[in-house]
Amino acid sequence: MKKIIVRGGNPLNGDVYISGMKNAALPIIFACILNRGKNVLYNVPDVSDIDLSLEILESLGAKHRRLADGALELDTEGVRSETAPYEFVSKMRGSTYLIGAMLGRFGEARVGLPGGCDFGDRPIDQHVKGFGALGAKVSFEDGSLRADAGNGLRGNSIYLDIASVGATANMMIAGVLANGLTVVMNAAREPHIVDLANFLNMCGADIRGAGTNTVKIRGVGGLHPCTYTISPDMIEAGTFMVAAATAGGSVNVRNIIPEHLDTITAKLRETGISVDVFDDYVTVSSDKRFRGVTIKTWPYPGFATDMHPQFSAMLCYASGVSTISDVIFDGRFKYVNELKKMGADISVSGYTASIMGGLPMRGAAMHATDLRAGAALVIAALAAKGVSEISGVEYIERGYSELDKKLRALGVDIEIVSLD
Ligand code: EPU
Repeated sequence: MKKIIVRGGNPLNGDVYISGMKNAALPIIFACILNRGKNVLYNVPDVSDIDLSLEILESLGAKHRRLADGALELDTEGVRSETAPYEFVSKMRGSTYLIGAMLGRFGEARVGLPGGCDFGDRPIDQHVKGFGALGAKVSFEDGSLRADAGNGLRGNSIYLDIASVGATANMMIAGVLANGLTVVMNAAREPHIVDLANFLNMCGADIRGAGTNTVKIRGVGGLHPCTYTISPDMIEAGTFMVAAATAGGSVNVRNIIPEHLDTITAKLRETGISVDVFDDYVTVSSDKRFRGVTIKTWPYPGFATDMHPQFSAMLCYASGVSTISDVIFDGRFKYVNELKKMGADISVSGYTASIMGGLPMRGAAMHATDLRAGAALVIAALAAKGVSEISGVEYIERGYSELDKKLRALGVDIEIVSLD
């Protein structure tokens, strides 16, 4: 058990270097199962969801080692067609990618139902529909999913009812070795989807259209391992941008692809915050004076649901009223009760939160209810008067690499203490 202690009030100044994108690294790591050999992946973030994925792969016979500079060597030659341990897969959402990868390589998969951050119901019906269209027989028993494609997967057209990131990635993973053409319509367009396609294409796949809403995957006879660099994490970058805006100061958020952050940049500018955009970094400058805005989450290139809690925290300090609607995960408002402990005035009705900004916020003891909620509490604590203690650090460590160290380097008074 750990706690984050933040003594609020310091501005943020300096440079922060963003790590690789967790939500791209996860499908890529599982997709390595398909190419049966030694891959080298650069810019893999050092976060616990990645560690858990690697444990799952090791339990199935893969071997990995961390190299210098955040690189990961992952050898999937020895992967066996077995059931992955339930205690691992049930802890993370990314383990759904195991289904596509095992089906693609072995024509069968047995995987415990995935867990992940709790935003309410997180169905996988679109994944199941897609695997079915590719010729797999899918059934559920004892909390596990079983998929069998006796004569191998066959390409097909799949219309996703929702532009799901996970289902799009899973169809790409399952489709690359299928017989014939797979077309995913209403596909997710997130940068992680493009990263996965680039990785698979470097391994010999034939995927076109990633980043648009129609992705075409022509099955190939086999893939080879490769060396690949994961793109920077747009959500980590956005989190630091919002942190700087909230606490004040001037921060260069470096090692990023600024286009991925266009929506976040636009929304920050709408609040009155200055964001200067350069080739591979942005500078956020703030005198802590900004106004309330209206936000609605939407699949990329819309406003990312993974940035909504951080903006909620910031908008507690804005002048005027803000509203944030999350139509992707309406169960994502659990952090609101924690922010109220600091003095925030937020009311939630359905999938919309109304935030009355500008009230005095003071440090409090709070609990991170999920990964991005944890980041939001830290952001709120940066600008509050007094000391905040945040438990649930393990959620934050799922997706942020050395958040405390990076914030400390920018001037924040923050430490992680172990309660054991
Ligand atoms: N959905 C369905 N059926 C499905 C799949 C999804 O109804 O079969 C619904 C979901 O319930 C949700 C919407 O579709 O309402 C979008 O879900 P999506 O499948 O796109 O999300 P995901 O793949 O489960 C990934 C990220 C999340 C991120 C979402 C949305 C990973 C491992 N997770 O989840 O990241 O919020 O896309 O962008 O890539 C995070 O990093 O904090 C995080 C939660």
